[in-house]
Amino acid sequence: MNNNRNIQNDVNLAEVDLNHSIPEEETKRQYYFMAKAARYVAELEQKLGHKPTCCVTTFGCQMNARDSEKLVGILEKVGYELIEDENADFVIYNTCTVRDNANQRVYGRLGVLNGFKRKKPHMKIALCGCMMQEPTVIEKIKTSYRFVDLIFGTHNIFKFAELLVATFENEGLVIDIWKDTDQIVEDLPIERKYPFKSGINIMFGCNNFCSYCIVPYVRGRERSRAPKDIIREIERLVADGVVEIMLLGQNVNSYGKNLKEPISFAQLLQEIEKIEGLQRIRFMTSHPKDLSEELIQVMKHSKKICRHLHLPLQSGSTRILTSMNRRYTKEQYVELAERIRTEIPDIAITTDIIVGFPGETAEDVEETIDVIRRVKYDNAFTFIYSKRTGTPAAAMDNQVPEAQVKVGFDKVLKTVQDTAREQVSRYQGQIMDALVEEVNENDNSLVTGRLSNNTLVHFPGDASLVGKIVNVSLDECHGFYYMGHMV
Ligand code: SAH
Ligand code: SF4
Ligand code: F3S
Repeated sequence: MNNNRNIQNDVNLAEVDLNHSIPEEETKRQYYFMAKAARYVAELEQKLGHKPTCCVTTFGCQMNARDSEKLVGILEKVGYELIEDENADFVIYNTCTVRDNANQRVYGRLGVLNGFKRKKPHMKIALCGCMMQEPTVIEKIKTSYRFVDLIFGTHNIFKFAELLVATFENEGLVIDIWKDTDQIVEDLPIERKYPFKSGINIMFGCNNFCSYCIVPYVRGRERSRAPKDIIREIERLVADGVVEIMLLGQNVNSYGKNLKEPISFAQLLQEIEKIEGLQRIRFMTSHPKDLSEELIQVMKHSKKICRHLHLPLQSGSTRILTSMNRRYTKEQYVELAERIRTEIPDIAITTDIIVGFPGETAEDVEETIDVIRRVKYDNAFTFIYSKRTGTPAAAMDNQVPEAQVKVGFDKVLKTVQDTAREQVSRYQGQIMDALVEEVNENDNSLVTGRLSNNTLVHFPGDASLVGKIVNVSLDECHGFYYMGHMV
């Protein structure tokens, strides 16, 4: 990985005075601890005879992926070398708890890490992210996974450098979990995974409390970053070669509502559009209840906002939507999607669907299928409902039997695949812009590009094209992707 990408902040750690008292201002404080950690890592390097390695494994959503880039930024800054292999000197799992299978994967893999650590006692194992905000998880780790060195949560991730130092200065488990925070700490190092595209947090947390969802409990209340901080971050990224950005938030449509000087998400987009050199703007996720006419118009007239909208449906049954606390009806959702399609005909709409929410009947599933047929999604993530302790839905007494869920799930999936195939193929024969993301893993004579509407296209090319936006003819649609050639 290329260290030049870590340009967010060029504080020289060698110049930080460790004899000075610990700075109070949070960004400065964390650089102080990075300088301290760098000394411990240098000592370790001496002992090992090579640069200590680190591995960051990410579970969950794009927001977690962005958080992991912050962890990598700090680890590289203090002297670790990033590798893909979990048999490293420092391993951190950035966890997700949105569905139970995400948790089970973490427990399973922790066993493997323990095997590595037995042969390498200096190895450090850290856990962070959403799962760590759940007290039951912490209890389980304390009793059954005693080889873990560090645990912290979502609210204090900015303290990672300080906690890392604590693992060097203490024997046994270092643990620091906060219930909530109103702090947003800016200007810490970030190491991007891709040189040409980047996620950017515009807000943290969620206030919606959909009845099935654990995110508001583990990510806290909604907080928006100041527009000037967002713009400054994007300007720096663009100066560093980024052409496409993805604005991240659990509900971007409510961005800015609780800032001292309120600003709408659509207004923020218009400001971002002005940034010279930036070519593509994406965002995620839009809650249908807050999607404004203003946003539709801004998207319609924008040259940079991509032709893609992720608009989670969750269920097509108004009865279930009410019980989910989604605060829109089936009709309102369909009307919104139709309005968007009329205003922006070339847009791709994708969605998330949950099957098996408590009380869901076969008729409710038919309602969902009806919406899929009417909206014609370009893609949809279909999830089996997962009971999350502490959420209102977990206490509902009409949980759906597994066998019934399976029948509904298969039906929904089949409908999604059929409509998606039809939707995606509607551009066959056309020429479109694609941002080349990588050399194809299976066939290195091909590269993979992403269209504005988020569909992938594979075409002949080489590594020199990565990061460039090129014109591609969409020759042949294969379900969810195209084969094409550059023109
Ligand atoms: N903030 C986003 C979603 C974040 S979670 C939004 O409101 O759209 C991503 C997706 O996980 C959700 O859209 C939902 O479909 C799914 N999900 C959340 N909780 C779930 C649960 N308990 N069981 C199954 N799927 C769930
Ligand atoms: Fe969860 Fe709903 Fe918030 Fe999305 S909007 S994160 S589904 S509570
Ligand atoms: Fe998972 Fe947390 Fe994202 S629970 S989906 S990683 S906000």
